[in-house]
Amino acid sequence: LTAAATAVALSFSAGSAIAACDDGEIVVKFSHVTNTDKHPKGIAASLLEQRVNDEMNGTMCMEVFPSSTLYNDDKVLEALLQGDVQLAAPSLSKFEKFTKQFRIFDLPFMFKNIEAVDAFQASATGQAMKDSMQRRGLQGLTFWHNGMKQMSANVPLVAPTDANGLKFRVQSSDVLVAQMEAIGGSPQKMAFSEVYGALQQGVVDGQENTWSNIFGRKFFEVQDGTTETNHGVIDYLVVASVDWLDGLDAPVRDQFLTILNEVTETRNSEAFAVNESAKQAILDAGGVIRQLDATQRQQWVDAMKPVWAKFAGDVGQENIDAAQAVNA
Ligand code: LMR
Repeated sequence: LTAAATAVALSFSAGSAIAACDDGEIVVKFSHVTNTDKHPKGIAASLLEQRVNDEMNGTMCMEVFPSSTLYNDDKVLEALLQGDVQLAAPSLSKFEKFTKQFRIFDLPFMFKNIEAVDAFQASATGQAMKDSMQRRGLQGLTFWHNGMKQMSANVPLVAPTDANGLKFRVQSSDVLVAQMEAIGGSPQKMAFSEVYGALQQGVVDGQENTWSNIFGRKFFEVQDGTTETNHGVIDYLVVASVDWLDGLDAPVRDQFLTILNEVTETRNSEAFAVNESAKQAILDAGGVIRQLDATQRQQWVDAMKPVWAKFAGDVGQENIDAAQAVNA
């Protein structure tokens, strides 16, 4: 496309998206980076869009932009603060510029499963985390689940030493950098939308993600296989700007937040099943999935867990203790 044609195409798509909303409606643009189907966040975002547009018709109008079509996660929080979008749900690993509290979610083997993550988030400590960035202009609204992370590479990963010397894509989190270094890997922070190409071209050798992301972005097609490590978690914070929320009339805000909370409850309880179905879809498509026995898994724990000590000061030993208590 010529520059002029691109400009026309862009203004047409922006114009047609806005045209879906009626004059006078509060437009809520929700930008995220994942697929819409077979994905916990994608499904939740679509359900939220549908319910807001049905139940708040005439008052509020939501437009979801999935698959990094509007912003990647490095840009979306700035876009929220500038009012270019009104809602986002980046993974908890992507808030480093705003808070170090969320580092607890990235520490390897901190949570045994998504129920433990849910219980921790529901605690007073977890709930307070939603307010931790108010001074920076961001209000956390609710946590959305994805699931546990698995490890993949262009060679079989069974022992942690198999990761020695491999380049791994990580989300923009220093904890994840330290985790990959702990297994002798060489970590590279990279936007989600670039991972497939980077794996395909050998810019990186491996990555870690949930079944729904590994399936949704077809990472398994350009990897030797995926090892079921369940070593960490990807979860999300649905976030808005304090200014935007404050600017809503109270009844409108209440109705919106009620719908959001109902969607959260419905979809969070399905997140595990959505990942299991993505895992099955990987197998159906011929992807290789490797299991670890208890001894092998313990080797990954032993290799990665020393990372906790490095970040205990950021996340607070009392929070680590609380997270371990919900695992029990
Ligand atoms: C990633 O960057 O791998 C994930 O945070 C993407 C997502 O939103 O699940």
